[in-house]
Amino acid sequence: MVDEPVNWEEREHDATAAVAAAATLDALDDARVRYLGRKSELAQALRGVRDRESGILLNGIRGRLEAALEARRGELEREQLEAAFADDAFDVTVPGTPVARGRLHLLTQTRREIEDVFLGLGYSVWDGDEVATVWENFDALTSDPGHPSRSQNDTFYLDADTVLRTHTSPDQIRALQASPPPIYMISPGRCYRRDTPDATHSPTFLQVEALAVDRHITLADLRGTVQYLVRELFGQEREVRMRTSFFPFTEPSVEFDITCFICGGAGCGTCKHSGWIEMGGAGCVDPDVFRNVGLDPAEWSGFAFGLGIERIAMLRHGLPDLRAFWENDLRVLGQF
Ligand code: PHE
Repeated sequence: MVDEPVNWEEREHDATAAVAAAATLDALDDARVRYLGRKSELAQALRGVRDRESGILLNGIRGRLEAALEARRGELEREQLEAAFADDAFDVTVPGTPVARGRLHLLTQTRREIEDVFLGLGYSVWDGDEVATVWENFDALTSDPGHPSRSQNDTFYLDADTVLRTHTSPDQIRALQASPPPIYMISPGRCYRRDTPDATHSPTFLQVEALAVDRHITLADLRGTVQYLVRELFGQEREVRMRTSFFPFTEPSVEFDITCFICGGAGCGTCKHSGWIEMGGAGCVDPDVFRNVGLDPAEWSGFAFGLGIERIAMLRHGLPDLRAFWENDLRVLGQF
């Protein structure tokens, strides 16, 4: 059987059309294999070439087809790239997805602010255990053995000798035992009492204790320190007044008030129309407390005071209900 002579002009025409019609790089590669691959008619014919004219003809076709393939490949690659750019187009002017920023809890902010004031005065910040012995929490602070605050109705007992501290005052005892005076320290932290939660009570709350022990400390030092603190926290116009009070571990004992920062002392709802706002308990360290930790009250003197951190935050921000601090509603907490 005699092979029909190949019409190369027609073949080149078909191949060129196939290359031009390839719509993807894969289709283009198929065309390449079919018309230029090792098993293609053209490659086979080139292998069998014996005369010069056929060689020139077939090599010419191969060269033109390769050029057409490369040209089409370039076009398809550019199209692909442009499509990818169009898909991933990034408009720098479109507002981004907002990232929610975390923040410190208002009580943490308030505690840190108080710490900063005292650090500026040269005090150290004590980190007291929330668990205290009955001796640290009550006895060493000379609290009356029969006082109702010791009862299981008021205090969380872990066992007969251990409680969740009911105030930060046991840190006075621990600080006094930890290192010899002079001592200038504050101790912020969580306290626990068996209180039913309401707008102003919570079974857990934060206090800051302040204790200064040195030679020749007087009530005037207490007053000056408290005044400095409240002016830093509530404004330089604040006045402080002290009223006599009683705490078993201070003598004399006082409670101190500041002029209302809402009405400036004229009288309003926040200060219950008295012009004054109660801030905390304080006093000079009782000589018996010094004796209980083995210090000579003739040599050492000191003052202490305690503040409620929630109360300060509530007053400063006009918050009506203590429970908002613990409910973790971000709509509330996110405002500070
Ligand atoms: N610990 C007292 C209380 O919780 C406050 C206080 C502290 C009073 C220091 C005097 C000195 O009520």
